[in-house]
Amino acid sequence: MKNTEIFTKGEVNELSSCRTGKFYYDVVCGLNAKPKYLSSMYFYDANGDKLFQDLMNCDEYYPTNCELEIFAEKTAEICKAIMGDGDAFDLIELGAGDATKSTYLLQYLLTQGANFSYLPIDISSNVISYLNITLPVTLPGLQITGLNGEYFDMLKKAASISKKRKVVMFLGSNIGNMPVDVAEQFSMDLRNHLSPGDMVLIGVDLKKNPQTVLAAYNDKEGITKRFNLNLLERMNRELNADFDVTEFEHYPTYDPETGACKSYLISLKDQDVNINGMETIHFEKDEYIFMEISQKFTIQQIDQMAAKAAFKPVEHFFDNKHWFTDAIWVAE
Ligand code: AVJ
Repeated sequence: MKNTEIFTKGEVNELSSCRTGKFYYDVVCGLNAKPKYLSSMYFYDANGDKLFQDLMNCDEYYPTNCELEIFAEKTAEICKAIMGDGDAFDLIELGAGDATKSTYLLQYLLTQGANFSYLPIDISSNVISYLNITLPVTLPGLQITGLNGEYFDMLKKAASISKKRKVVMFLGSNIGNMPVDVAEQFSMDLRNHLSPGDMVLIGVDLKKNPQTVLAAYNDKEGITKRFNLNLLERMNRELNADFDVTEFEHYPTYDPETGACKSYLISLKDQDVNINGMETIHFEKDEYIFMEISQKFTIQQIDQMAAKAAFKPVEHFFDNKHWFTDAIWVAE
C-alpha cells in the first residue's frame, strides 16, 4: 500500500486508531486500491446526517416509511416479543440515527412499565449528542446511555456496563450496507457478542420490483447524488483534500438477480486529487469509485443468515406492501 510508505508501522497503528487518523487511513487505502472504493460508513457527518434526513422524506425512498409503518402498526406485538417474561433488559440500538422508529417502541415500553435501559450506538457523534439531549425530554423516565463509536467496540462497552439480557436493534436495513458474505460474518460476530436468550430485532429491505428499488437510490431531486458527493466534500473539509465535486457523477445500479443495489461516483475527466498535501490520487476519465451497497434480501435468505449465525428466526413483521421486514432472532 502506497500510503503506508511515508509512515513507520507505529505511526500507522497510531493513525488507524485515532478517529480522524482512521478516516484518513481508510480513504487513502480505498482510493489507492484498484478498483477504488470508499466506505459508506463515512457518509454520516453533520451534513450527511441532514442529507439522509432529506432522503427519508423524499417520495422515492420507501424503506424508512415501510419500517415506520411496521413500528407504528405493530408496536404492541413487537414489544411483547422483546419483553419476554418481563425481566430487566438492555435495549441496544446499532446505528440509531434520529431514533424516530425506536421512539414508538420506547414510548410503548415506558407505558407498559418495562424495566429497561436504552443504549443507542452510532458512528455519528452528532447523532449521539442529539439523542442524549432530546430523548430524556420527549420520553420522560427513559434511562438512556448514548455510545459514540463503531458497532462492536460499543457493543463490548455496553456488555461491560451491564449484565442484563440484551435486545439488539439493527434497523433501517443497515445490514444491507454489507455484501452478503460480510453480512453473514457480521451476524456471526453479533451472535458471539451475545448470550443464549438474547435477541435481535433486525430491519431488512426485501427484493421487489427493480424499478422501485432503483428509483429509491436515484431520486429525481438528486438528494442521493448529493449524499454520495458529500463524502468527497467531507474529505475536503476534514482531510484538507481538493476534490472538485462537479467533476464526479453519481451512478446507481440495481441487479434484481443478486439483490445488490450499488452506487458509484464516476470521474468525468483525467484528474489528480490531493489529500492533505501528502497523497495524490489519480483518476482516469470514466474511472469509478465504489461508494455503497444496499443489499436487498428474500425472507428465506434472512432466515438462513440467522440460522447460520446460531440465531433462531422466530417472528417477521411486515408493512402492508411487504416491501420490508423486521425480524426477531433469538440467540441459541
Ligand atoms: C441507511 C444504509 C439503510 O442503504 O438504503 C440511502 C443509506 N444510501 N440512500 C440505504 C442510503 C442511499 C441507507 N441505509
